[in-house]
Amino acid sequence: MTLVNSNYLKLPGSYLFSEIARRVAAFSAENPDAQIIRMGIGDVTRPLPQAVINAMCEAAREQGAPEGFKGYGPDHGYMFLRELIAEHDFAARGVKVDPDEIFISDGAKCDVGNFQEIFAQDNTIAITDPVYPVYVDSNVMAGRGGELQPNGEWSNFIYLPCTAENNFEPALPQRRPDLIYLCYPNNPTGTTLTRDQLARWVEYARENKSVILFDAAYEVFISEPDVPHSIYEIPGADEVAVEFRSFSKTAGFTGLRCAYTVVPHKLTAKSPNGEDTPLNPLWARRMSTKYNGCPYVVQKAAAAIYSPEGRKQVLENVAYYMNNAKIIRDALKNAGHTLFGGVNAPYVWLKTPDNMLSWDFFDLMLNKYNIVGTPGAGFGPSGEGYFRLTAFGSMENTKAAMQRLLK
Ligand code: MLT
Repeated sequence: MTLVNSNYLKLPGSYLFSEIARRVAAFSAENPDAQIIRMGIGDVTRPLPQAVINAMCEAAREQGAPEGFKGYGPDHGYMFLRELIAEHDFAARGVKVDPDEIFISDGAKCDVGNFQEIFAQDNTIAITDPVYPVYVDSNVMAGRGGELQPNGEWSNFIYLPCTAENNFEPALPQRRPDLIYLCYPNNPTGTTLTRDQLARWVEYARENKSVILFDAAYEVFISEPDVPHSIYEIPGADEVAVEFRSFSKTAGFTGLRCAYTVVPHKLTAKSPNGEDTPLNPLWARRMSTKYNGCPYVVQKAAAAIYSPEGRKQVLENVAYYMNNAKIIRDALKNAGHTLFGGVNAPYVWLKTPDNMLSWDFFDLMLNKYNIVGTPGAGFGPSGEGYFRLTAFGSMENTKAAMQRLLK
């Protein structure tokens, strides 16, 4: 008899953003004239920077000539891109990351979902709550979740609530986790940790021999000086943390697909016989076996964002989205709503009025205002009573959505 991985059967319903897409499609089919404004999934809308387009065209032409053609690329990414990343994303901030600690991939979602594979199945997981659902679902698929409780928590996970009550700063865990997922600037709440707050986590991980899986996909949106752009800005973090970065939100690559993961040489976990085992070669082995690399043309496109004109164009798009975030924040604040985020991240985390349940508020927004957002409860139990709006739409749509709401 062929058996399925029964952990998959424990997963509830569908993936959060698939469920939202399903509900919106059903509403659209019934209301074909509705002018729906999408502020749900964090998908970019600005065209790719011109420097990226130029680099792709040039790389495509190279591929069309015998002397420029490239087949399989290096397993872990072309050195030209890894060196640019090491220089611009890290050395420029006083952080030393070697190019061979950087692994290029086709998305941070895949990397954060896959990284758990190199750890033992009985590791204990800590997650902030609310949380990007990929951390939860990928560990449930791997058998680390235990059972889903009536309160929406998985029995084996350690939940670290982040709500207005604790100013969205997770408390250190009561019992020791092996793996700690942190995402800052945070998806979904749009909040951040200061340098001192993040340093407490690095210290905790060092004292407790835990590994931090740090998702910094929204780093480019940081505007305040005391917010670290990389966990490696905290001394000693290279002994306890992996960092995930993405070109998706940074440079509009949600459709193009390129990201990277940093696995420092100093980072280790224990083998079954208690030996310190470096994680970099394990991740290298995993990537070589299961992945053939991000396309050359796409890696050339990613490299272009580090040119002076590429950087300028990227920052123009970032400013455009953060202006949308300000439009959302100002409009809702003036109308008396309680909200968070939207300063160092393109997400605004709104307290639902009159303590409405998040999915009820989602239905109200869709049915009455034809606006799609993301219900906070979809990100975990502590997201109940909140609602996420993204700033990734066009300015016209963002303004139109606010006008509809304020009317
Ligand atoms: C989100 O809306 O949370 C993100 O777009 C999801 C993702 O990056 O996969």
